[in-house]
Amino acid sequence: MARILIINGPNLNLLGVREPDIYGRLSMEDYIEAIKADYPDVEIDYYQSNHEGDIIDRLHEEGFDSGLSGIILNAGAYTHTSLAIADAIKAIKVAVIEVHISNVHAREAIRHTSLISPVCRGVIAGFGLDSYRLAIEAFLY
Ligand code: DQA
Repeated sequence: MARILIINGPNLNLLGVREPDIYGRLSMEDYIEAIKADYPDVEIDYYQSNHEGDIIDRLHEEGFDSGLSGIILNAGAYTHTSLAIADAIKAIKVAVIEVHISNVHAREAIRHTSLISPVCRGVIAGFGLDSYRLAIEAFLY
């Protein structure tokens, strides 16, 4: 059975509550339940942290012999600032897809730069929570 890990970074624990015009009204927990029902043959694990080092620890833990098909990472604002997360992605063996709920390129200039894009398998942005499902499809293909 394929196993995929979704990692969400800072402030994404507030999905459904935080800036709903940008990020929607659904909580990540509800979305994960829905997506698990859509993919009964895929083990979908979910981890969220507001702390850069915790995200890096999880990438290290899952990035070598975990048997994962892939990691889907929405690093939140760390996308635009964290050389440390970029280095962790580069260091591990499991492929990472960068995901964003919003179209970061249609937003403020600071969100147009991603330090992690160059070390990710690919980038999906702007499809709301469906961005995560599209990343799952990319790993299953
Ligand atoms: C985000 C976009 C980032 O710029 C922002 O800091 C987030 C969420 C997105 O999913 O659209 O926290 O990664």
